[in-house]
Amino acid sequence: VHPTAQRRAYPIVVQSDLTSYSDEFITSKFTNRGADVSVTNGQYLITPTLEQYEFQTVRKVSKTGLMMVGWGGNNGSTLSATILANHHNISWHTKAGIQQPNYIGSVLRASTVRLGTDSSTGKDIYVPISDVLPMVHPNDLVLGGWDISGASMDEAMKRAEVLDWDLQRQVAPHMAALGQPLPSIYYPDFIAANQEARADNVIPGTDKQAHLEHIRADIRRFKQQHGLDRIVVFWTANTERYSDIIPGVNDTADNLLKSIKTSHSEVSPSTVFAVAAILEGEPFVNGAPQNTFVPGVIELAEREKSFIGGDDLKSGQTKLKSVFAEFLVNAGIKPLSIASYNHLGNNDGHNLSAEPQFKSKEISKSSVVDDMVNANALLYKPAEEGAAKGTKAAKGEHPDHIVVIKYVPAVGDSKRAIDEYYSEIFCGGRSTINIFNECEDSLLATPLILDLTILTELLTRVKYRSTSTQQTEFAPLYPVLSLLSYMLKAPLVKPGTDVINSLNRQRNALEAFLKACIGLEGSSDLLLETRLW
Ligand code: NAI
Repeated sequence: VHPTAQRRAYPIVVQSDLTSYSDEFITSKFTNRGADVSVTNGQYLITPTLEQYEFQTVRKVSKTGLMMVGWGGNNGSTLSATILANHHNISWHTKAGIQQPNYIGSVLRASTVRLGTDSSTGKDIYVPISDVLPMVHPNDLVLGGWDISGASMDEAMKRAEVLDWDLQRQVAPHMAALGQPLPSIYYPDFIAANQEARADNVIPGTDKQAHLEHIRADIRRFKQQHGLDRIVVFWTANTERYSDIIPGVNDTADNLLKSIKTSHSEVSPSTVFAVAAILEGEPFVNGAPQNTFVPGVIELAEREKSFIGGDDLKSGQTKLKSVFAEFLVNAGIKPLSIASYNHLGNNDGHNLSAEPQFKSKEISKSSVVDDMVNANALLYKPAEEGAAKGTKAAKGEHPDHIVVIKYVPAVGDSKRAIDEYYSEIFCGGRSTINIFNECEDSLLATPLILDLTILTELLTRVKYRSTSTQQTEFAPLYPVLSLLSYMLKAPLVKPGTDVINSLNRQRNALEAFLKACIGLEGSSDLLLETRLW
């Protein structure tokens, strides 16, 4: 895709002394209202807090490249083909009629936020989220990336067996023009042995420092070749096993850089990619569950002020769980067990059929109800301080939660997920709810890659200063982009802060942040005007 980088119209004007516009920036004043709570002997002492901030957003969107690691996989090839279909406005025949390309499933491009009410009609006014601030249009992304499989992008699309044949047929010449993915780093120990047959496009040698420099040079070359302002490097390659966190090896930025120099065996390909992106000052997003972001990577990102986000795309079962478990707990119902089964037949499923890779996925899928459980001490007994280590009392009460994933080749990319929620209801009663979810995996996942890329690019253009503390210079956001949480199964957050898994809270945070950048308050469902005389 070679966009003309046309300046797309920005339709919003906020008329207030909190918001100002220049050719270059949108600047807003924002009051962050919170509450400081101290608890003593069952008494809650609350002090409302106010902090003043200014946000400054660069209006001109960057000419953005999306470099995917695992570009030739189901997600990478499906994303590329669907962007091309949208870009060239290719419609195709299905057995149900003619299908137009679209961006359904993208929160940014296919969902809306409420701006307020038209006082003349009393009607609420909604806009697409992508209109709230200037954002990259997906059709304008310049696509590229790496894969250990050397199949050209049209062959990769065919191999994925995701898209209708009539779309594949028309988009194939455009896919062929994208060429072949760049050779990538392959350390067989990190992905399933069953992937070996694919690995015919690898950077030679075992010198990890040389690999790091090779990837950095790839990023620089791609940026220069296409005249880009920004590149988002996105891991959508196979799930790797977890890396062991070893003191002296990957626990600090310096140790990690040293371990890359000595080609230490615990440094994974995804970590090398993350380090390459960070050192190039380009954001890195991890769409798979492994712990790419070992402590040394996070420290390096902080040091370089370079953005990172992850982990693991939240597409189907976990997304629903982050809504459903919260619904039950917030309704005062007590889930006792959540049992989740999946089967799928694509290459991701094949890779996950190996135990160490499954383990990464299991961990990523498991923590999703933790914050809802911890928020309700009426239903779940909190951990007891001083209780013997490893006992139930020390851990706190928690629903039983299991996750099973099986590889069933026949179903291909169509993933099936079965979840049983078994809950305690009023006075000893029980409720069982079963959910069966069937969906084309890659068609759920690819819009999330788009959202993550577009939001990440936007967040590189937003700066802030605290006016309460008289901070004079605008500074970039903290490097770990937790605002991406909505699209991620196991959100990476600033060390020491709580992970929010609730999908509603994640969306509210995103909406409130985007609105804060234009000087508006977050979503107000108070709607006082509908409740008062
Ligand atoms: P896939 O197996 O079709 O594609 C992965 C690609 O990565 C393959 O083409 C493979 O050759 C390549 N690869 C493996 N190691 C590599 C390396 N070191 N460097 C470059 N390329 C490498 O898998 P799919 O379905 O595209 O999924 C991609 C990732 O996204 C997986 O890790 C999966 O767990 C994750 N994911 C997918 C979701 C979905 O709904 N499709 C949801 C959540 C996460």
